Amino acid sequence: MSGHSVTANASAMTETVIAALVDAIGSGSVLTDPADRARYESDWRNRYSGTASCVVLPRSTAEVAKVMSICYEARVAVVPQGGRTGLVGGAIPQIPSVVISLERMTQIRAFDPLGMTLAVDAGLTLGAARAYAGEHDLALPILIGAEGSAQIGGIIATNAGGSNVLRYGMTRQRVIGLEVVLADGRIWNGMRSVAKDNTGYGLQHLFIGSEGTLGIVTGAVLQLSPAPRGVVTALCPVPSIDAALSVLLKLRAAMPEALVAFEFMSAATVALIASQRPDLAAALAISGESGACLLVECEDFTGTDATQDRMHDALGNALETGEISDALLAQSVAQRDAIWAFREAISFAQNGVGYSVKNDVSVPIGRIPDLLAQGSAAIMAICPDAVPICYGHLGDGNIHFNVSPAVPEASAALQGCEPQINAALADLSEELGGSFSAEHGVGQSKRDSLSRLRSGPELEMMRQIKAALDPLGLMNTGKLL
Ligand code: MLT
Ligand code: ZN
Repeated sequence: MSGHSVTANASAMTETVIAALVDAIGSGSVLTDPADRARYESDWRNRYSGTASCVVLPRSTAEVAKVMSICYEARVAVVPQGGRTGLVGGAIPQIPSVVISLERMTQIRAFDPLGMTLAVDAGLTLGAARAYAGEHDLALPILIGAEGSAQIGGIIATNAGGSNVLRYGMTRQRVIGLEVVLADGRIWNGMRSVAKDNTGYGLQHLFIGSEGTLGIVTGAVLQLSPAPRGVVTALCPVPSIDAALSVLLKLRAAMPEALVAFEFMSAATVALIASQRPDLAAALAISGESGACLLVECEDFTGTDATQDRMHDALGNALETGEISDALLAQSVAQRDAIWAFREAISFAQNGVGYSVKNDVSVPIGRIPDLLAQGSAAIMAICPDAVPICYGHLGDGNIHFNVSPAVPEASAALQGCEPQINAALADLSEELGGSFSAEHGVGQSKRDSLSRLRSGPELEMMRQIKAALDPLGLMNTGKLL
């Protein structure tokens, strides 16, 4: 039995449901032992934890449907789960629930080289899907650090963003067909492999970004794109955020179709990574005093040096005008990997210096300087022992406005200030015309902001949709709304 306290009735019901689930999909696919359930009950940061009455590991859409109809009949809450790499606690039960992990559903269902589409099971990892596309000279351009664990179903349910949204858009833009098991166990087969399907409501878009609150994504048709022949990557110290935006304009003018990533790391972020990963910093000749940096990447489809030359010229020009103070243009795959490793090391570097507060906000890009200045001032006023760690996808207006303690001993003070910091940053980003959650979603951690900042018709429509598709309120209960 699960470790939480349940009433005798609830406990008896759980036993009955577990028996029905075992009957439907086999005992090997239903985990009840606390030790087996443990890894499904918390996220990778151990920030969120909850109780799984049991964990089911279906092998097919039909099995997911059986599980869902059993839970629906018994009025038992379910939590769909992918790779648990989310940052807002969306995949971890808030109330004791049946956790449905899709990790055993990893098949490639169909590949169409002509239409450049890939139909997959939802449990396939993003990394595996990207590798498959790559083997066929195509690309699935969704670039997130967690691709080795994140699953297709999870990135669809959360509409994951990443580092090349600037060029390719969010996950939503990659999904052309979807298969979903509904709250009552019915299967919606919307696995169409066509770019054009103008037949009324775009139902798939309801489920993309719904965070498992409306149904379970079990399969998807993904639109691939031509693979670039090469990439050109640079790391550039930059004296100010205004200079960084000038560099963006310059690069976009020089190569409008080629710029795919334009990432920013504040001076404090660079110093933090350099302190936690001196190996990477040394390899890139970066130090704690290097100041803010840009990571810039362009894709080349010509197979010539043309893109590299254009980037070289544009960055050379930015150097002359003082908009950047240096430029390391990667000369090898290893150097490019080191640049990205430096960028992707931020979350882990934060874990190394104590408690970390995560915020993920967007504003119209011209308001980024205001966001950084006003947000940092607000944080320092709330918690003087804190250090804003600002970085992220500057090219699309999305900053991860994280916060670390100035010294590890200030962790408790920072944790105490977290609700105030989150509220201040959420208010500010909305005031500046943006969003309090740009790409990480709402889950458990940003629910208050949603109900506080998105009032009236927007919330009502969301509640009506929720009530229509999940009338019993069993799907990922307590998340989002
Ligand atoms: C990133 O861009 O690195 C992630 O979205 C944010 C994070 O891991 O904190
Ligand atoms: Zn991000």
